[in-house]
Amino acid sequence: MKVVSIAGLGHHVGSEVLVQGWLYNKRSSGKVRFVLVRDGTGIVQGVVGPGVDAQVFALADTLPQEASLKMGGMVRAEPRAPGGFELAVTYLEPIHVPTTPFPIGLKEHGVGFLMAHRHLWIRSRRQTPLLRIRDATLWAIRSFFRERGFVATEAPVLVGTSVEGTTTLFPLDYFGTPAYLSQSGQLYLEATCAALGKVYWIGPVFRAEKSKTRRHLIEFWMAEAEQAFLDHNGNLALQEDLVRYVVESVVAERSRDLAEVERDPALLLQEVKEPFARITYDEAVAAIWDRGVAMEVGDDFGAPAEDALSHLFGRPVFVERFPASIKPFYMKRDPERPDRVLCADLIAPEGYGEIIGGSQRVDTEEELLAQLREANLPPEPYQWYTDLRRWGSVPHSGFGLGVERTVQWLTGTTHIRETIPFPRTLDRLYP
Ligand code: 4AD
Ligand code: MG
Repeated sequence: MKVVSIAGLGHHVGSEVLVQGWLYNKRSSGKVRFVLVRDGTGIVQGVVGPGVDAQVFALADTLPQEASLKMGGMVRAEPRAPGGFELAVTYLEPIHVPTTPFPIGLKEHGVGFLMAHRHLWIRSRRQTPLLRIRDATLWAIRSFFRERGFVATEAPVLVGTSVEGTTTLFPLDYFGTPAYLSQSGQLYLEATCAALGKVYWIGPVFRAEKSKTRRHLIEFWMAEAEQAFLDHNGNLALQEDLVRYVVESVVAERSRDLAEVERDPALLLQEVKEPFARITYDEAVAAIWDRGVAMEVGDDFGAPAEDALSHLFGRPVFVERFPASIKPFYMKRDPERPDRVLCADLIAPEGYGEIIGGSQRVDTEEELLAQLREANLPPEPYQWYTDLRRWGSVPHSGFGLGVERTVQWLTGTTHIRETIPFPRTLDRLYP
């Protein structure tokens, strides 16, 4: 019998095949046993009828949840079965039979218990499609940049300076020198962008953030791009193209998984069909007030404000030109209004919040030194970054897309912890 993947069963209707996987669940109905097997690509129902070998029938009766096994039989189309196909089982071969019950039963468990068993929880019905959609998202980002001629490059994770403010730095001891885990690869991408023109990376970044929200991780993945000779408007156009491309690719590639997590692909496509909305920070504050959420002009958006913005348009919205005082030192001032910067946050619809932060970058040495001073940052550790403004400085812009926030929106997942295999949150480092 040919070994096939569960996702590919549709190509083998009428043939005898072998699937290899883990027993997910079982049920019985009279003289028939239904064995649900998952293999990482999907779930298939094996039907063990009364005609089969007594030994096979006995195995179907006794094998416990998460036993690993091989299951062989004829593929049949069955619209009511998960995935649309089933196996008329003639062969069962256990590989490893657990002797203690699998801790994660099919009943509801509390979040604390599930998180403590994350290494096993990822095997379950909702988690596997989520992780496949994450994979499709990352591939879509890579293909987009590759098609656009961006060079994949890397930023270091061990660094000597802050990018996004000093309050969320993770300090560590680098052989006697203070060092940190990187909050963003941006500064290094600005250097590689002056070497290669258009660059991107996808890597882990760290924020020692004491926020315990459903949108914050301590360690998360960022897809960051930087392009020479790109201005603020070009930057927004690039981000919009990327987000639309990612949504369309994920919907095309992972429709079955989206259905499995009960996310409507038509809604996602609808949300990115029209040009994204664009409002200024000041317009955003007014809209937030309209929705009855309190904040001051000059404040950053808290979770309720971001929520309000997220529900305004039914599609992603760029909030542009924030006050310089609440944004990092590297952003270029708006020439029309020097207390504002040429930046934008992209807010996803339906309450999923900010998925991208980006800006045009300061491109003269004088402005950079002045802005470092205003941010109370010493110039010496940023000497190399200042050098980029000394030799062939050009207008350049870039952005960082939060991979987990994006997967959260694409999959309609309430809490960010389910969008990464092993989430790092304020209160959890295990497993
Ligand atoms: O807006 P942020 O902080 O921007 C930067 O770090 C820039 N240096 C990026 C750049 O221009 N190259 O972070 C970018 C995105 C946010 O929009 C959000 O999606 C995500 O990263 N993000 C988080 N995701 C999960 N948990 C957290 N604690 C996050 N903080 C930011
Ligand atoms: Mg941001």
